[in-house]
Formats: sequence, C-alpha cells, structure tokens
Amino acid sequence: MRITPARRLRGRLRVPGDKSVSHRAALLAALAEGRTRIDNFASSADCASTLGTLGGLGVRVERDGSVVFIDGAGAEEGGPRFSPPSAPLDCGNSGTTMRLLAGVLAAQPFASVLVGDESLSRRPMLRVTRPLESMGARLEATDGHAPLRVEGRRPLRAIRHEMNVASAQVKSCVLLAGLGAEGRTEVVEPLTQSRDHTERMLRWFGVNVETRELADEETHVGLPLGGVEGRTGGRTGNPFRESGRRVVVSVEGGARLTARDLTVPGDISSAAFPIAAALMLPGSELELVGVGLNPTRAAVLDALGALGASLEIENAREQSNEPAGDIHVRGEGGLAPAVPGANVIRGASVAQLIDELPVLAVLGTRVEGGLEIREARELRVKESDRIAATVENLRAMGAQVEEYEDGLRVEGPVSLRGARLRSFGDHRIAMAFAVAALTARGDTEIEGAEECVPVSFPEFFPLLESLTER
Ligand code: S3P
Repeated sequence: MRITPARRLRGRLRVPGDKSVSHRAALLAALAEGRTRIDNFASSADCASTLGTLGGLGVRVERDGSVVFIDGAGAEEGGPRFSPPSAPLDCGNSGTTMRLLAGVLAAQPFASVLVGDESLSRRPMLRVTRPLESMGARLEATDGHAPLRVEGRRPLRAIRHEMNVASAQVKSCVLLAGLGAEGRTEVVEPLTQSRDHTERMLRWFGVNVETRELADEETHVGLPLGGVEGRTGGRTGNPFRESGRRVVVSVEGGARLTARDLTVPGDISSAAFPIAAALMLPGSELELVGVGLNPTRAAVLDALGALGASLEIENAREQSNEPAGDIHVRGEGGLAPAVPGANVIRGASVAQLIDELPVLAVLGTRVEGGLEIREARELRVKESDRIAATVENLRAMGAQVEEYEDGLRVEGPVSLRGARLRSFGDHRIAMAFAVAALTARGDTEIEGAEECVPVSFPEFFPLLESLTER
C-alpha cells in the first residue's frame, strides 16, 4: 500500500463495531436460550472467525452485513447443546477467538481442536491452558502454542485464578469456563482492571457477575498502581483505576443465559487511528460518532488529554450495557503535555492502552519531550512483536528511538520522512504507520498492509482517504 502525505483530515465518521464486544456478543448469544439479534457487529475478519467457529459447533448464525442473528444452543444438563465439531475450529488471526472459545469448550462433554494462522500459532497459550486444566479439563498445546486440543468436562471445578498477566482474554476464558463449573469461579486481576466487556455482556444476558475490590486480607503483595504517572482517574472515571486497587471478578456456575438483542458500540481502538492522525495534522477536525467509551477501554482519551490534545465528548450515553458517545477532535499539528509525567506511559494504564500503544508511539514523534512506553512486554506477544516492529518502522522514517525490553522511547517533536516499511502482517502496525505516513514528507510504502488491516478495520483505507485533504 502506497500512502501520500495529507495536509489535514476533516469530516464526520463512524468506526465499525467494537471487535472485543462483537466476539463476546456472538459467543454469549450462542450459549443463550433463544435468538439474539446483534446490530453493528464488527466488520473485522477476527469476528468473522468467531462466527465461523460457532458454525462448526452447530450453532445457526445468519449474517446480513453488520446485522447478525444467532440461534442460541440452549441448555441441556446444565450446559449448552453444541454439537461436537467434525473438523478443527479455525480461529484465523484471532487470539480472542481462540482463548475465549477454549474457556467455553472446556465445559463441553467432547473434544475439539482449535487452530490458527502462523501468527496466532506463535502466541502463548499456557496462560489459558493452565487454569482450564486446574478446573478439570484436559488440554494439549504444541509447545505452549496452537493447535490446541480441548477435551471438555462437565461440570468443571470452580477455581480462584490469580492472573500474572493483565489479560482480558485470560480473565474471560476462565469466567466462561466458570459458567460450566460447580461453585463460584473467581479471577483476580494483577494490576488494574482489564477490559470488562465479558462481565458487562454476561450481565446483559442475565448472569450475575460480581466485580469487587480485593480486600486487604486477600492481598499478598503490594503492586504499584497509578496510571499515567502523576494522574489518577481522568475523564473516563474508572473507579477501580482511581482507587488503585486490585479487582476480583466472579461468576457462579450453572447460570442460564437468555437471548437479548443488542447493539455494539463503535470500536475506540479503531477510532484511535484517525484521532491520532488528526492530532498530528494542523487544521484537522473530526467528529467520530457512536464510539464505545467503556472506562476500561477509553484510557487512550485520558492519555491524549494529558498530552494536551483537544478532545470533547458529546452525547454520552449507555447502549446495551456499554458506555458510548461522540468524540470531537481538533488538531494543531502537535502536542505539548498538559500534565507532568504524561510523556511516560507505564504501570496500571498499560493494559488499558495495550492496543493503542503503536499509534501512540507514532504520535510521540509530535509530542514536546517525546514519549516513553514501559512495562509493556505484552506488546512482544501480540499479532507481531509490536515493540520491535514499531521501533524498526519509526527508525526507517527518521525518528530517534530507543528500544527497551519492555517498551520504547521516541524523541519529539521531529518530522518523519516517507519510507518503505513492513506491516509485519499486523493490522495495528499497518494502521499506525499509515497514520505516520500521512504526516511524513514524501510517500510511504507499507508492505502487506491491505492484507492485514481487515483483521480489525476493513474500511480503514477508504475511510481515511475520504477524510483526507491534500
Ligand atoms: C482483547 C484483549 C487484549 C487485546 C486484544 C483484545 C479482548 O488482549 O490486546 O486485542 O478482546 O479481550 P489481552 O487480554 O491478551 O491483553
């Protein structure tokens, strides 16, 4: 993909439905009794993988563009009436599909095999196989990776799982398995609260999920907390982030899910790309309509606000148990931190910014004092090694970058120059550097971008082009 620099971005846009919420909507609708209509279902290839795996389990799925109907499997003997799959279930590039589905299948009385593409087959799976084994399912991974064979068991044993990585996928996997366990399954978050869409969606389908702060007597170690240094809370008002306490989420086994129509909000992680581009190009003005503003996802708005960005939220509302609203952004060509410490992202806020870090690093080239990202080792085990990929591409564009084992530091403000870049087959790397390319001097070529961007945002390039003024 070849990208020509832009003067500015202007317009009103809708980003596609949230990928994380769409996966959960589909999975839970499949577990429910009755037919669910899902509106604004993500256009992402990852979410299509989730629908495909449900089809492989005998669930009836109908799709008409962004509207999806799912006939829930309903219940038998305390579990959903899925059919044993006759072939491996293909999760494509989607870590969320594989890890969440492993939790669901752990409580099924049959064996399944989960496979993925080359990138997914390199990603760590022991983080889900271990807790599921301790619940009584049998799992076989290949050297800790997919293909994954899951031999389910019903009922499972309820466990208390203390996560050592802040991962919503692991939390969701264990909670979904917990639906098929005897007793109450608890998951303890390591640092801050990871995205809580599974909890919200379970409640939408009628399951009683408890989220509470870890009591003093339950705490073994004092972990550092605090978000972007020197700040707490912020506009997204996450009570758990403000209090700086660990969170325990639990679910009672045997709960019944009831079908219930829902509408998926726009994906804030997709919105982050046009927002970042607008902030880097002076005279830009964008209105993003119907974006999900869940406090465990919207930390990017806090981080940008702390860096001096001009952002306004309008029409804040609740939609199918998820906060949403419109975002108005005005760009001045660069940012100057409004809050001391905003140039360093580390600690509790990292998990809540995880998918936005590559584009934040790109934006860092336009920030007074640059941007440092630390304690973000998880970036190395995403769809690509996102630290190495970001560092390589930023350097190719002339930025001064330091690479750390757990992050990077980019100097700013500097102007970027067009270059030949690699996408590393990773949608977020391709889109982050498409943003960088718009702000650079000279054209940029991103190898493999068209192929990987549809993983989360198929409309990205035409949408960006429709907003671009040259
Ligand atoms: C996701 C959680 C995050 C995120 C991924 C989607 C989810 O992964 O990076 O894009 O939908 O639960 P981890 O929970 O493994 O960090």
